[in-house]
Amino acid sequence: MSFSISVFGLGYVGSVSAACFAHMGHRVMGVDINPTKVEMLDSGRSPIIEARMDELVATTNRSCRLHATTDSRAAVHQTEISFICVGTPSLRSGKLDLSHVERVSREIGAALAQKRRSHLIVLRSTVLPGTTESLVIPVLEAESGLRAGKDFAVCYHPEFIREGTAVSDFLKPPYTVLGAAGPEAIAPLRELYQDIPGETFATTIRAAEMVKYVSNVFHALKVGFANEVGTLCKSLGVDAEVVTRIFTSDTKLNISSAYLSPGFAFGGSCLPKDLRALAYRARELDLALPMMESILPSNNEHVNRAVEAILLTGKKNVSMLGLSFKAGTDDLRESPQVQLIKRLLGEGLRVEVWDQDVSLGRLAGSNRQYIEDVIPHIGSLLSPDLAQIVRNGEVVVLGTKAVSGAQLDAYLSPNQIVIDLVNLDQSDRPRNSAHYQGICW
Ligand SMILES: NC(=O)c1ccc[n+]([C@@H]2O[C@H](COP(=O)([O-])OP(=O)(O)OC[C@H]3O[C@@H](n4cnc5c(N)ncnc54)[C@H](O)[C@@H]3O)[C@@H](O)[C@H]2O)c1
Repeated sequence: MSFSISVFGLGYVGSVSAACFAHMGHRVMGVDINPTKVEMLDSGRSPIIEARMDELVATTNRSCRLHATTDSRAAVHQTEISFICVGTPSLRSGKLDLSHVERVSREIGAALAQKRRSHLIVLRSTVLPGTTESLVIPVLEAESGLRAGKDFAVCYHPEFIREGTAVSDFLKPPYTVLGAAGPEAIAPLRELYQDIPGETFATTIRAAEMVKYVSNVFHALKVGFANEVGTLCKSLGVDAEVVTRIFTSDTKLNISSAYLSPGFAFGGSCLPKDLRALAYRARELDLALPMMESILPSNNEHVNRAVEAILLTGKKNVSMLGLSFKAGTDDLRESPQVQLIKRLLGEGLRVEVWDQDVSLGRLAGSNRQYIEDVIPHIGSLLSPDLAQIVRNGEVVVLGTKAVSGAQLDAYLSPNQIVIDLVNLDQSDRPRNSAHYQGICW
């Protein structure tokens, strides 16, 4: 099936989108306020330097599937779907400049007011979560006098192309993300992309807006990380390429979804110690590695968040489930759960603690010494009686995955507050508490 499409903004994203849609067999009208870009595209010349663009623009323009105009009204009237690809640059303060998005929304809204048939508006510009719902939709509705979801549809659809490989990225994306209020809005896009490979995710508008930022921030983080690793390797006389090749070949822990779910702070006998050792060595070498140095402060901030969430409840009796840094171990060294309890005791709260592994280890003697020597005041709060501990807490803090929602539900009453630090699986969360909250979800 062939669609008629207008693409607003003929920069990198817009001109690649326009050329690729035309290449896929659709009729495309590019729109820009810059008459030079419009004239170029309309005469079969690519407005940007990008691999394959000269060929795609020339052939699709010659076969009358690709044109361009400065007339936004005509473009909306002559097409079924409008893609918004205008720029969202930074202002001097770092704030996102949404003036182009706002202006193009006004133009499309005004054109919709005089259009009889329904229309789909697809925002592709990178915008912060909430922008489509708080800016684009209200402006479209105000200018058109129509209602989104009834008279026209809106979708947020992030773009993942990279300059230099933009055409092949467009035709072969990592995935397609479609954010909309309901399935009707994205039905035409599912058809439009039916021959494009990769998984399609239909989600909310806000989640789709956020996926784009999370992706870009993670890519930036990877580049910064790799460069700090290389810097450290070079100074230590280690071959960075060898290290990187071996490191990236681990697809179980290193290049994988491991450790990428929101949860609680890390701890234990390795990560904090090793981060400190590297940061110390870097300082000895006079190296500034701000990314590596900021990981422990970021982790501490997460413990602060847990303290704040518990204090905000205003309750005094806290039941803490989990004392070791993760389920299945009784190792208490640098456990953030221990840090959290110390902070809560310091705030004058009453805390009782349950951790099966720690209790067992204590009986067996393996961690008895640590508890007696380092945290005797916390050792005395430990009880092996899960039922009693859960029942006693006004706030029940889930600091371990060693309990199931069903187990907790046997003892929880609806007025108890549950604060989940470990991100129990959705299907395994307690249902009896009317006040469940995750620390960061
Ligand atoms: N460049 C990339 O590789 C890339 C990749 C993914 C996402 N993005 C995002 O996509 C958006 C567009 O990026 P870009 O690099 O293509 O921007 P760009 O600055 O290259 O192009 C934007 C175009 O929009 C035009 N424009 C501005 N107001 C207009 C209006 N009212 N009507 C019609 N056209 C108008 C401008 O004249 C310009 O040609 C940004 O939000 C960006 O963050 C960019």
